[in-house]
Amino acid sequence: MFESVLDKLKAARKIVFVTGAGMSQESGIPTFRGKDGLWRNYDPMKIATIDAFYENPKLVWEWYEDRRKNIVAAQPNPGHNAIAELERYKEVVVLTQNIDGLHQRAGSTKVLELHGSIIRIKCTVCSFQDYIVSSFDMLPPLCKCGKILRPDVVWFGEPLPQDVWTEAIAHANSCDVMIIAGTSLLVSPANTLPLYAKQNNALLIEINPEDTMMSVDMNLTIRETCSNIIPELTEMFSKLN
Ligand code: APR
Repeated sequence: MFESVLDKLKAARKIVFVTGAGMSQESGIPTFRGKDGLWRNYDPMKIATIDAFYENPKLVWEWYEDRRKNIVAAQPNPGHNAIAELERYKEVVVLTQNIDGLHQRAGSTKVLELHGSIIRIKCTVCSFQDYIVSSFDMLPPLCKCGKILRPDVVWFGEPLPQDVWTEAIAHANSCDVMIIAGTSLLVSPANTLPLYAKQNNALLIEINPEDTMMSVDMNLTIRETCSNIIPELTEMFSKLN
C-alpha cells in the first residue's frame, strides 16, 4: 500500500495526523455528512451554534448528552490504537476535529482537540471549566456562579481556541508527513492544515473511502477505512525498526 512513498516514510522524523469523524466511525460514532451522518437528521444551525444554544439550551444539552453517552460507551478502534502505537517509531502529533477523546483513550500522548471536547464543560460567563463525570440532575446545568454551563466544544461561527490553533499550525508547518484520515475537509480552518504541510514539502497521504476536497493535492490517496489501513502503516514501521 505504501510502496510508492516508502523512502519518504522511512526518512520521516515527524508524522502529523489530521483526523475527523471517519476516524471514529468504526467505533460506532456517526459521522456528520456521511450516509447516516448527524447533519442528515439535524439542522446544524438549530443545534450547534451559540444562537441555537441560547434559544433552547435544554434541547442542545439533551442532544449533547445523548452523544456523550454514546461516546463514553464506545471504544477506540484499531485505527486509533495503531496511531498511538506509532509513537514507538516516530514523533507523532494528532490534530483532531473529533470531540470524542478516543485518540487519548487509545494512548496517543500528543493530541490537539481543534473543536474541543464533549467530556468537558465550561461556564458561559465565568472562567469555570471541568470534566463531566456523571449525568446532570437537570438540563441545562448551572455553574456555581448561577449562569448556564455549556459543552466545551466549538460551534459553527465560533473561533477555535487560539492557543490550540497556533500550536496546530506550528505542527503542520514542521511535519515531514501529514496523514489526513477520516475527514471530508469541508470545515475551516481545520481544512487549511494540509496546505501548511504542503508548503513545508511534507508528504500528504489521505485515508478515506471517498474523495474529498483536497484529494487532488495528495501524494497518495488510499480509498480505505482507517481501521484497515493505519494498522498496516504501524506494522510496516515495526518491521523497519
Ligand atoms: N475510515 C476513513 N474515513 C471514513 C470512514 C472510515 N471508517 N467512514 C467515513 N469516512 C469519511 C467520509 O468519507 C467523510 O469524507 O470520513 C469523512 C467524514 O466527514 P464529515 O462527516 O464531514 O466529518 P468531519 O470531516 O470530521 O467534519 C468536520 O464538521 O460538523 C462539523 O465540527 C464538526 O468536526 C466536525 C467538522
